[in-house]
Order: sequence, then C-alpha cells, then structure tokens
Amino acid sequence: MTTASLLAADLLLAVLAAAGWLGGGAAAAARRRPLALALATVALLATLARATTVLALARVGWWFAAEKVVVAAPLSLAAVAVAGPRLLRAAGDIRSVALPLLFAGYALSAALLVTVLHGYPVSASVGLLAVAGVVAATALSWRLLDARPSRAAVAVAVAALLAGTGLAVTPGPAPAAPHEHGYPKARISDEPTRRFTLTAGTATVRVGGHDVAAWAFDGQVPGPELTATVGDVVQVTLRNRDIGRGVTLHWHGYDVPNSQDGVPGVTQSAVLPGQEFVYRFRADQAGTYWYHTHSVSDVGVRMGLYGVLVVRPGPTSGLDVTVPVHTLGGRPLPDARMEQVEAGVPVRLRLINTDSTTHRYALAGTDFRVAAIDGYELGGPTPLRDTAVLIPAGGRYDLVFSAPATPVALYVDGRRVYSTGAQSTATDGWPVLDPLTYGRPAPTPWSRFDRTFTLVLDRGLDLRGLLPRYAHTVNGAADPDIPPQVVRSGDVVRFTIVNRSQTVHPWHLHGHHVLVLSRDRRPATGSPLWLDSFDVRPGEVWEVAFRADNPGMWANHCHNLGHADAGMMLHLVYS
Ligand code: C2O
Ligand code: CU
Repeated sequence: MTTASLLAADLLLAVLAAAGWLGGGAAAAARRRPLALALATVALLATLARATTVLALARVGWWFAAEKVVVAAPLSLAAVAVAGPRLLRAAGDIRSVALPLLFAGYALSAALLVTVLHGYPVSASVGLLAVAGVVAATALSWRLLDARPSRAAVAVAVAALLAGTGLAVTPGPAPAAPHEHGYPKARISDEPTRRFTLTAGTATVRVGGHDVAAWAFDGQVPGPELTATVGDVVQVTLRNRDIGRGVTLHWHGYDVPNSQDGVPGVTQSAVLPGQEFVYRFRADQAGTYWYHTHSVSDVGVRMGLYGVLVVRPGPTSGLDVTVPVHTLGGRPLPDARMEQVEAGVPVRLRLINTDSTTHRYALAGTDFRVAAIDGYELGGPTPLRDTAVLIPAGGRYDLVFSAPATPVALYVDGRRVYSTGAQSTATDGWPVLDPLTYGRPAPTPWSRFDRTFTLVLDRGLDLRGLLPRYAHTVNGAADPDIPPQVVRSGDVVRFTIVNRSQTVHPWHLHGHHVLVLSRDRRPATGSPLWLDSFDVRPGEVWEVAFRADNPGMWANHCHNLGHADAGMMLHLVYS
C-alpha cells in the first residue's frame, strides 16, 4: 500500500469509528437496540483496525503518525476500555450503554479533529484540548441523559477545557518578520546589453476564439518572450498601468541576486499603478525559465501576468520552440500550432508549466531525449519513445529530437498543442518518465550537511489571523507564522519535505536550485537533478540539498499559488 492510500484508509477508519460510536450512542439513547449494537460493532472493529494503519504509517515516518500515536491511540484505548465491556454485557436496558458509547464517540471525534485540524507536530496543548473536549462533551451528555454528573466531573471538565484553550491560543515565539530589515539594494552596475520594458495592465485577449478578461504584460498573454545569451546583462523595466493590486517580476528558476527577485514585502514593494521598477541581472545560466508577477501571485499569474525567459548559450541552429502552458479563464493556452519542419532538423521543445497544477506532456511520432529540466542540462539522457512526462507547476522540461520525415505532435493532457503535420495518437496509456532514474549518475558533491530542515506539509486550522481559516500548513503553521529557515553563507543545507496531505504540493525555493537526493528513501540514481520546482505528492518524502551561495531573504513555497496564498509559504534567511 502506498503511504497516500494508508493515510486515506486511516482517515476513513477514523471517520467510521467516530461516526459509529456516536451513532451507536444516539441509537442507544433512543432505545433502538439492534441499530445501536450494529453501529457500535462497526465502530469497535474500525477502532481496532486502526492499529494496523497507524502502525504502518509510523513505520513509514513519524511525521505521518505522530498525533495518531500520541493522541488518537490513547483516546481509542480509553474508548474501547470503557465502551467495549459494556457493549458485551448490554443485556438489559440498552439505554444504559448510551453514555459509554457517546464517550467513545467523543474520544474518537476529538482524535479525528486533531488529525484534520492540526496534524504535525503534535503538542501538549492540542492533546490537552482534545481530552478537555471529550470530558466536557461527556459531562454534558451525562446531564442530558438525565443522570447526575458529580460536581467534581463538571469542575474537571471546565478546568481542562480552559487550560487547553489557554495553551492553544497562547502565541508561540513570533517568527522574525521578513520586512524588518528594509529591502536589499545591491544591484549590478554593468551596462545592460539587453533591455526590455514590460507594461502590466488589464486587457481582453483571444483564447481559442473567445474573448477573455486578463491581466497582461504589453496586452498579451503570455507576455513578450524575453531572450538573452549567456553573458548578457539583462535590464527589464516594469511599469504598471492599472493593476490595482500591484505587480512585480519574479524570475522563476533564475537565481538572480536577492534585490532582483521580485517578491513584494520581502525584496521590494509592489509596483502600483503609475509606478515602475527596473530589474537588472547577469544572464549567466542558459536554459528555459519564466517570469511572473509575485504580487497577489495566485490571482495575478492566473489572470495572465507571466511570460517566457530563455537564455541561450550562444548562437543556435535548428528549431527552438517554447510551449508555455497555461489556463486562462478556464481555457487552455497555447492555441494549437502546426509548422512544417524539414527532416533532420534538430528541434528543441521548451515545455513550461505556468499553471498551479501538474500537466502531462506527451511527444508522439519520434524518439526524443529530455535534455534539461528546470534550466539545467541532464547528464547522458537516453532516447525515449512513447513516454509521457509530468511537469509540476512552475517546472520546465526541454525535449530534443531530430525531426523525422513523418509528423510529430506534442500533446498536453491529451490536447494537441504543437505538430509538424497531421498527427493523431492516443497517448493516455503511455508510461510516465521518472526523472530520478533517468540519465547518467554522478557522485553527490556533498557528504555532510551543515543544516537540515524538515518541512511537513498538511492542512490545519489557523487561528492567528483576523478570521479563522483552513490553511495549507508547514509544520503546523501558516504564513506569516512559519519560522524562517536560517542559514549561513556557504552552508550545505538539506531539506526533507514530507507531504501528509491529500493534495500535490509543487515545491519551489527561490534563489537556489536544489539537488534531489532521494524520494521515499530511495536515492536518486539518474543524472544529477537540479530543480527549482518539484511535485511532492501525497505521502511522499523528498530529500534535497543545496549550497547556500546566494545571500538574502528568499521565499520558499508551494507553487500551487492558491496554497501559497493560503499559508504554504516560508522564508530562507541568511544570518
Ligand atoms: Cu514562481 Cu515564488 O514563484
Ligand atoms: Cu501546495
């Protein structure tokens, strides 16, 4: 069983158990004997069965099981100990077992709430709050069922409830506010050799024959393609005509100096209507990248404020095609395009996923190689055929091939977006490339790490803001309350990223490429993979590392930008 299905199975059992005990208790209170016994039996079995799923999860990793072992297991034991024997001896008035069954229901519900609303890491206050809730609910039911709870029981319940609540709402140490130090200023002084101006504004654009309201750079979606050659000094003047919520330019995957990174509130303020900001950086790394606004990035990028950045190593021959995929107003971009290509011409397809979710790309009609991922060339890429690639949100794959005499077509999620002639192939059943096992390995440059961090991704209730929200969390906290990761210049840093949730989180660290060490404890065996965007699927554990060689304060976040907005964003800070 995969970790994701274990997590799902465990959640299902937890729901069954909680609902079964509660329903059984209610049925018993209503003197519906057969129903009460049936529900309670289901609950008992589900509660016992969880022992297997929880143990299995604990064996995969403590992150997946912590609160289940520390909170759910003792509460379940108490539930079984209290309700189980009564159930077996429920010969007389069924109503007499209502309270024990309800107690079990409250215990299992409290444990379930801890998993769903809080997750990892488990804390004493959360455990206490759960116990307090169980005691309080039991006392209340006791009263409603017309027995007399002792004053002492009520007092204990109230005290536990107060203590738990108090602990839970006491703010922890406040993380360093990212903005306190002012914005970084250092910018290279070299004369630019490539100059661009991008003007952001509202626009109406045509997508697949329909008018769509958009936010656009220079009136087009995607924005103008920016190209440079290694060695260029690129200067981009950003103007904002009328985007009320502000605009910036973030060079996704391009490891520019911190001052040029385009994160409002961290490296600059957002550029408001009528304002401008000039970015300048050296194009010292060839490859396929993209740029996008980082101001209200979820809305801004979705509405169209993005474009392609390609840096070429020098003069190139052959055909070089960029395919930035996006969903604008619910319609897919780019429109399908067909061009004639002579046999033998070398072709490079630069695939870019600018959406917030994974896309599946399939190149039909030719052998091809994956030459680069996230701008970095792979070592020894072998020819592939009839194989799909999954590109995470923000990620890029460069596919290369020599044009055959027969037509070739590129499909994105089954839709043909590019072809060199009439071509139609069903690509759904194709296997998917695992980049961790593709290409020629090379020794890992580091054997020891100066810092290690673990990021456990989940969902949870966030009560720190003005309104409570069901946030996307990292280690149980949501932006801006996630403590920053502090490193020193020169450190070799290792991250472990654990996905406890039921959704994919495309992880993206600014300012650095990370080297993939392992996934689910299996070491990467292919070409070294230097990524800036990678999908951490439900239940997965990724280990990546990088050298801290680009000082500043860097966003480190989920590139499902809705998730980032809903809390899944922290910062890497150089001390
Ligand atoms: Cu492309 Cu902070 O993101
Ligand atoms: Cu996410």
